[in-house]
Amino acid sequence: MQKTVVSQEQIAHQYEYMQFIARMNAQKAEVCGHKLRAFTQTFGCQQNEADTQRIAGMLDEMGYEKAESAQQADVIVINTCAVREHAESRALGNVGALSHLKKARPDVTICLCGCMVQQEHIPEKIKKSYPQVDVVFGTHALWRFPELLYRRLTGDKRVFDTSGDAAGYIAEGLPVLRDGGTKAWLSIMYGCNNFCTYCIVPYVRGRERSRDPQQIVHELEQLVAEGYKDITLLGQNVNSYGKDLDTPIDFSDLLVRLNAVPGDFLLRFMTSHPKDASHKLFDTMAACDKVAKQLHLPFQSGSDAILKRMNRGYTAAHYRELIAYARDKMPDLTLSSDIIVGFPGETEQDFEQTRALVDEIGFDMLYTFLYSKRSGTPAASMPDDTPHEVKQERFERLLRTQDERVQARQDAYAGKCLRVLVDGTSKGTEYPLTARTEGGLLVCCAGDGLKIGEFAQVRIEKTSLRCLFGRSV
Ligand code: SAH
Ligand code: SF4
Ligand code: F3S
Repeated sequence: MQKTVVSQEQIAHQYEYMQFIARMNAQKAEVCGHKLRAFTQTFGCQQNEADTQRIAGMLDEMGYEKAESAQQADVIVINTCAVREHAESRALGNVGALSHLKKARPDVTICLCGCMVQQEHIPEKIKKSYPQVDVVFGTHALWRFPELLYRRLTGDKRVFDTSGDAAGYIAEGLPVLRDGGTKAWLSIMYGCNNFCTYCIVPYVRGRERSRDPQQIVHELEQLVAEGYKDITLLGQNVNSYGKDLDTPIDFSDLLVRLNAVPGDFLLRFMTSHPKDASHKLFDTMAACDKVAKQLHLPFQSGSDAILKRMNRGYTAAHYRELIAYARDKMPDLTLSSDIIVGFPGETEQDFEQTRALVDEIGFDMLYTFLYSKRSGTPAASMPDDTPHEVKQERFERLLRTQDERVQARQDAYAGKCLRVLVDGTSKGTEYPLTARTEGGLLVCCAGDGLKIGEFAQVRIEKTSLRCLFGRSV
């Protein structure tokens, strides 16, 4: 199985479709007296947010301006997630609610895309039960969006494109519309090869494929020139970056190259997988001044029996060893993780091992999820006889442990001076600005000389569970 690099000729075709639509839209705009508008909505992870920015880039090229709500829009694009049932039902609920809008304004074009629709059983469901949807395209067809929309706008009744080779595609040269500000996503690879037994992502995103390092360096240079200062490299498992490339390069080598790009900016990355995170990576992070000392390293469970059934490929002891090494190299490291509570067959002892690891390590942030059964994954057919209330109680117990740890960690910052990047305004009047520490912690701040988009030094005056409060020094 080989990934497909979409040819520049095919990309040029997409630009032609965008220009056709732009011309049609210009004519329509003359009639109705304003530019046509597009509304996008995103569910799911940062990868999906980055994909929506690509879709927004294409819509911009087609002459649409941004609509603030679906009601105002001529085109609506809902980019879906399938990782848990909740994400799917919310997306479908929103699409369901659009049926009124479609009845009132049959000319509005409703598009549904992303991970949810890439699942085998979904297109049929949409064909049957969601007649208001005009265009459906999966993750593999994202780069063909202009062509699909064009077909719908020029007479095709409903357009479905959820096919695509699981090996996946790399499409360079399409427009991206970011939302300004200080933060930008930069995808370095797509897909996943890990097949954790609970997870739908490898089925809907295809195999791992890395972007050419030159392209990534070039995009970073552009971002820095545009004034972005807080740049997050994205991939489901960034530690396998480069394995599929002809050039011998790994993720650490890529970090070194990106760190050498001139300018005042911070590089973050996510997600790392403990099975592939290496000492070389931590040494490199420690040595690169522009790489934030921040690590998101999901461990999912503290029980080796569960980790094995999850097909994660490491043990709790290995995880501990990695963290100890990383903290030794980077004493100020900010650490976060993902955890699944209630995996099929999880016993009280298994769960307590997870809770104990949380207590022992002391994470700065935790993303905790109740297990959600995903059809087609191996875990979906594992016996799961733990009652929901028991899982819920474990979930809450874990959050309590985490909150205690976080409060203690937040308190330890009181009186300290930290370097932050000011990135927005807060609701409070006492500390009217928001900022992020190098490790990604939220700081509400006040004082002279603070400017959105600039780095500053603040002294922490007080703390809460979710926020530090600081004044410029
Ligand atoms: N590639 C990343 C995670 C992507 S999904 C990694 O491996 O770390 C983000 C998180 O969603 C996962 O880390 C996991 O904790 C959670 N998740 C994935 N599938 C899930 C499921 N079926 N039920 C509950 N949580 C799930
Ligand atoms: Fe899912 Fe595992 Fe891949 Fe992460 S590494 S996306 S959890 S299969
Ligand atoms: Fe969801 Fe797809 Fe991301 S399933 S979590 S949007 S990769």
